[in-house]
Amino acid sequence: MSYYKEEFQVKGGRFIIRNADGADAPKLFDYMDHVDRETVFLAREPGEFAASYTLEQETELLARWAEGDEKLFLVAETEGGEIAATCGCFYSKGRRRIQHMAEIAVSVRQDFWRQGLGRRLMEIQFGWCQEHKIEKLKLTVVTANTQALGLYLSLGFVIEGTLRREERLADGTYLDLYAMAKFFA
Ligand SMILES: CC(C)(COP(=O)(O)OP(=O)(O)OC[C@H]1O[C@@H](n2cnc3c(N)ncnc32)[C@H](O)[C@@H]1OP(=O)(O)O)[C@@H](O)C(=O)NCCC(=O)NCCS
Repeated sequence: MSYYKEEFQVKGGRFIIRNADGADAPKLFDYMDHVDRETVFLAREPGEFAASYTLEQETELLARWAEGDEKLFLVAETEGGEIAATCGCFYSKGRRRIQHMAEIAVSVRQDFWRQGLGRRLMEIQFGWCQEHKIEKLKLTVVTANTQALGLYLSLGFVIEGTLRREERLADGTYLDLYAMAKFFA
């Protein structure tokens, strides 16, 4: 089971950081739509998240992740019950050759940037990785995303290489990505 819960107090307010469950699905649709309109640094055009899943599918997926042991999907919830940030981390338990490796992704809604949410979410996932004997944690990030790069470098990630033209925006602009990793062992 991938359960987690804590209170996270910052200057701007108090958040509950916890694993998502099926009941969060409607709020997550709103959240994904919101953040996808705020940044080009996530790998979706606005509207694509809602087009990819039905509410039932998303509800089932979140419940499965919470019950299972291969993915911790965290949300940071405001006192008003809105989702301010998410962070998912997963690995493949049944695949001997890659079960030492996990992948992570994080996003924070713009009105909650620079309050330490991104860093705290990543740190919680590091603990989960260590409990699951993960040795290598990997992610990709747009090379121009200085905020995320600053966060990842400060947390001990290193750049492993550059992936050219990995994403193409609706206006035709290509984005390069860095492949980054943090090694625990
Ligand atoms: C990148 C992101 C997750 C950072 O979240 P955050 O909650 O604002 O980050 P934190 O407040 O925890 O800051 C952690 C560190 O990130 C770095 N950082 C954050 N914002 C930064 C900025 N504007 N410029 C430079 N570094 C920045 C700093 O190292 C910071 O540490 P410090 O506050 O001690 O200096 C957030 O900006 C975001 O969601 N951006 C849009 C989506 C995205 O790019 N996701 C990552 C995809 S790979």
